[in-house]
Amino acid sequence: MKTIIINGSPKAAHGNTEVFITQFLKGMTNQSEVAYVAKTDRHQLARYIRSFDTVLFVMPLYIHAMPGIVMKLIECMESATGPGKSMGFLVQSGFMESAQSQYLERYLRAITKDLNYTYLGTVIRGGSAGISMMPESMNKKLFKQLNQLGACFECNGTFDRDIVKALGSVQSLSKGRCFLFEALGKVGLSDAIFWNGMLKNNKAFERRFDRPFV
Ligand SMILES: Cc1cc2nc3c(=O)[nH]c(=O)nc-3n(C[C@H](O)[C@H](O)[C@H](O)COP(=O)(O)O)c2cc1C
Repeated sequence: MKTIIINGSPKAAHGNTEVFITQFLKGMTNQSEVAYVAKTDRHQLARYIRSFDTVLFVMPLYIHAMPGIVMKLIECMESATGPGKSMGFLVQSGFMESAQSQYLERYLRAITKDLNYTYLGTVIRGGSAGISMMPESMNKKLFKQLNQLGACFECNGTFDRDIVKALGSVQSLSKGRCFLFEALGKVGLSDAIFWNGMLKNNKAFERRFDRPFV
């Protein structure tokens, strides 16, 4: 099975998507090739993809959808002409609910079928906005899951169901949890502490409510 992993982040190797790919590959004995949509001509990449049996897209969720550069690449892809071609996806996002990615998942399933590829599924992981900035100890559980996901993928050519289920386990927030987060936010104990710190470090805090396109 010849596999190519496509990093669909506009940040290429400098975002959270890259962390997901690195940890996924760590579980494999034979490394798969990685290509960056943000750094490659999309027509060239779409042609190159045709020489692989399996295409694995790893991307962030942007506004409940895939990044535009991924969509443009997919639009350049041609349908598979024979059997044995498969496509899978890993979508990671900022908000913790995996339900955020459900619309995209539906599209990915449909487009895979349209392109005459076998659909391997979509792995969804929310709550990932800070992972490239967090110490490794805080990502221990996630990294272990991704290592195992990569190892199983190399062995079976599919995603392990249990790991997929565990990664996307926070489907939506219960009323109780929403209430708790709201209360914590009111007393200043939300993740705004972290994001505000980042805004201040980048001298953008005072401009956080700017609406440049209005
Ligand atoms: C323009 C933009 C739009 C985003 N939209 C969403 C969204 O709709 N839902 C969500 O859960 N996270 C959203 N996020 C958060 C990203 O999915 C998250 O930070 C991800 O880890 C970024 O991966 P990257 O560093 O590889 O780009 C958005 C981030 C950006 C920059």
